[in-house]
Amino acid sequence: MDSILVTGGGPLSGTIPIAGAKNACLTLMPATLLSDEPLTLTNAPRLSDIRTMTSLLESLGAEVSSLSDGLVIAMSSHALNGARADYDIVRKMRASILVLGPLLARLGEAVVSLPGGCAIGARPVDLHLKALEAMGAELDLRDGYVHAKAPKGGLRGGTFEFPFVSVGATENALMAATLARGTTVLKNAAREPEIVDLGHCLQAMGAQIDGLGTSTITIEGVDRLHGATHRVVTDRIELGSYMVAPLIAGGEVTCAGGRRDLLEAFCQKLEAAGAEITESDAGLTVRRAGERMRAVDVTTEPFPGFPTDLQAQMMAMLCTAEGASHLEEKIFENRFMHAPELIRMGAHVDVRGGSAHVIGTDRLRGAQVMATDLRASFSLILAGLAAEGTTKVGRVYHLDRGYERVVQKLSGVGAQIARVSDDG
Ligand code: UD1
Repeated sequence: MDSILVTGGGPLSGTIPIAGAKNACLTLMPATLLSDEPLTLTNAPRLSDIRTMTSLLESLGAEVSSLSDGLVIAMSSHALNGARADYDIVRKMRASILVLGPLLARLGEAVVSLPGGCAIGARPVDLHLKALEAMGAELDLRDGYVHAKAPKGGLRGGTFEFPFVSVGATENALMAATLARGTTVLKNAAREPEIVDLGHCLQAMGAQIDGLGTSTITIEGVDRLHGATHRVVTDRIELGSYMVAPLIAGGEVTCAGGRRDLLEAFCQKLEAAGAEITESDAGLTVRRAGERMRAVDVTTEPFPGFPTDLQAQMMAMLCTAEGASHLEEKIFENRFMHAPELIRMGAHVDVRGGSAHVIGTDRLRGAQVMATDLRASFSLILAGLAAEGTTKVGRVYHLDRGYERVVQKLSGVGAQIARVSDDG
């Protein structure tokens, strides 16, 4: 197993390239199952989650090629060999459930293992299933698997109102509805940029979709979808993660490809905490306006609110800011596992249920810490940039799921960071 060593100190300076969005790519890849013609994605991120999705699609009979050093993913699902997604692959990544809607829509049946993924709460898939039931699917949960069957003649359009916003359930329902007979209306749908990106790709494949980016999406089913080439949207979570780096370590960093509209609520919070953010053709340039960042209160919400996937990174920054901050986690239970690790580095954090109280300190100290989930792992690296001495972040495989080439990207702007193998 590998660890990352970060030594604090020194301002950062330069440009960090931001990759295509992991969360968009993980829903764009299953979209290949909807058509017998090729789907090609450009600007793909190079991540272990993408390799897991590749294995899953290949196990279903899709052909998946990684080209241009992983930046291009060329897929073809002309000869699917079955509709069963096995536990062995699905358990590695919750997004595996996103093959369910497309398989059901294209083949009329699917058997998909219930997923695993990050340990950030219970994370059931009931909304995915209910939305598909609204399109006439018959579902049976047996032996840890969802056994799904479309009615004779295929899925049919229906109206479904999500009781609360779910990104994945919206994606599954949207994909399934493209091939359903008639009109599907999804109410209280998620509005995340990754869903808009999926919608644009499906439209390029011939789908009829209205209302992308709003909470009511209307889909007119078509008989078949064709091939397409689609560029994956910028990863706003990777973008936001690197935007915090100069705020915590000092200096000025440009996040190439960054767009403010992907992260407006996050940018506003950073500015309230004392960041200066400039948008240009080059991307987003970030630095501290004054000597030290200030405390702010944060509540996570579905898009366009403050993203839960940036809560851990924000907490790391607030641990070093002046004053007391309050963070409310509204999307996932148990998403403060980074707090005890930050405390090991000298942070003052008090977690009570879904909220955390942070009192900033200007003296974090390097320590040996453990990544507990994907975004938490990046928050520990950020804290390490601000800490005196060296921080060793273990269980880096969490990081590899969602951040490509972290060491290259951060050392490129002057951070002292290295990856080491614990096996010697
Ligand atoms: C996606 C993102 C993840 C992000 C999350 C919220 C991907 C691959 N992952 O996850 O990075 O943190 O959106 O922005 O895109 N829920 C249910 N039943 C369901 C589905 C969800 O109760 O059927 C709950 C979840 O437990 C959670 C909340 O709804 O508390 C939101 O989850 P959801 O938006 O579905 O997140 P994911 O799609 O899993």
